[in-house]
Amino acid sequence: MSSKKNIVVMGLGYVGCVSAACLAEIGHNVLGVDRDIHKVESIAKGQSPFFEAGLETLIKRNLAAGRLKAGTLTKEALQAADVVLLCVGTPSQANGNIDLSHLRRVCEDIAALLGPRKKRLAITVRSTVFPGTCEGLLDSAFADCKDVDIVSNPEFLREGTAVKDFMEPSLIVVGGSQEKAAKSVAEMYAGLPGEVSVVSLRTAEMIKYACNAFHAVKIGFANEVGSLASSLGVDPEQVMATMCNDTKLNISTTYLKPGFAFGGSCLPKDLRALNFRASRLDLKLPLLGSVLHSNDEHLGRSIHKVLDLPGKRAGIFGLAFKEGTDDLRESPVIAIIEHLIGKGRDIRIYDPHIQLDGIYGSNLSFVVSALPHIGRLLQRSLDELIKSSDTLVIAQKPAAAEAKQLAASGLPILDLTRLEKDSSAG
Ligand SMILES: NC(=O)c1ccc[n+]([C@@H]2O[C@H](COP(=O)([O-])OP(=O)(O)OC[C@H]3O[C@@H](n4cnc5c(N)ncnc54)[C@H](O)[C@@H]3O)[C@@H](O)[C@H]2O)c1
Repeated sequence: MSSKKNIVVMGLGYVGCVSAACLAEIGHNVLGVDRDIHKVESIAKGQSPFFEAGLETLIKRNLAAGRLKAGTLTKEALQAADVVLLCVGTPSQANGNIDLSHLRRVCEDIAALLGPRKKRLAITVRSTVFPGTCEGLLDSAFADCKDVDIVSNPEFLREGTAVKDFMEPSLIVVGGSQEKAAKSVAEMYAGLPGEVSVVSLRTAEMIKYACNAFHAVKIGFANEVGSLASSLGVDPEQVMATMCNDTKLNISTTYLKPGFAFGGSCLPKDLRALNFRASRLDLKLPLLGSVLHSNDEHLGRSIHKVLDLPGKRAGIFGLAFKEGTDDLRESPVIAIIEHLIGKGRDIRIYDPHIQLDGIYGSNLSFVVSALPHIGRLLQRSLDELIKSSDTLVIAQKPAAAEAKQLAASGLPILDLTRLEKDSSAG
């Protein structure tokens, strides 16, 4: 059982009503509030305001046990609360931007009733909001309330299985700049299976968007691959089901780390072939058709970062399209090097698996046609690369010893294999 908290839930729609009933079910005292009086009255009578499997049973049981109430927000309820969960809607504006008017309004309602407090209050945003919203909007709304902490706790439930999703969560994320407040909100879930991921405010807000974008991309991907399979007389369900049996490369964390653009002898070639065939079939697959473009844009961002580096002599670590291979075909590093040379930069390259006298065939012809002066640029050791450079660009994951040597060089390093937080972001 979790440590019992007094919780006020603002907004009793799909998210708020399920959260209120489930939090009461795991032992907390919950007051649900909504500006829609019908929802409040319905819950107070033991009826779910909408259909959601298992919800009405929970509402009835917890009303009877005295752990769940529905009513209006009062000064007393706020004074007793440990956590206020904001579950109001954040719909789209006509231009696609998020509409925060409900969130602003609910913050004003709360701020108007907040007096001096005997204990801290965690105002917790469960609605889906863009990174920076909690800091910006809520910090200003509650700027005068020094006993208030702002926490983000996005919701991941799915309508139709919302109660089950709450009780058996796929993910619980709590974000906050005040460690104590974030921990206190995380404690609310102590009765549920799974670990709580405690992160920063902005990270929590971003994770929710990342999850929904990922779900949408997965569905779009399955539908496009399925449509192509179907057009080719192949069973779409068998293709996707078998693909999902691979939990090492396919349904896994592999390829889900933000870093450098992809390249190599297979991914670009096979995507091109797939898109060509789809176009021949008059089949529009915009998601699959945009992947190489997305990769080019990402490569373009890397090129800009490299061109922004100080110093004239850039040392490039890695030439093959990834670590552990000497395959140079369609290596994105070559595109970066072409740009640098085109801008008159003096560059040197080192790749632990590539010495010019060791490559031949299509690999050699590819690199020589792209970089005719490769022989002059390629260094024989990492030491040589460091000595001939003002700045270093890591374009391929170094082994531990090489990473140490690169770091010990004392030179400015741009690591393209990792995307870092932009500290200038507002
Ligand atoms: N529905 C889902 O499956 C789901 C899942 C995860 C996250 N979310 C996110 O959760 C948020 C809520 O979604 P929802 O589907 O529950 O919305 P909803 O529209 O069903 O419910 C929102 C409720 O907030 C109430 N409300 C608005 N202003 C209020 C105020 N000032 N005081 C009190 N109540 C107020 C409304 O009357 C309404 O009942 C959104 O940001 C949504 O994106 C939704």
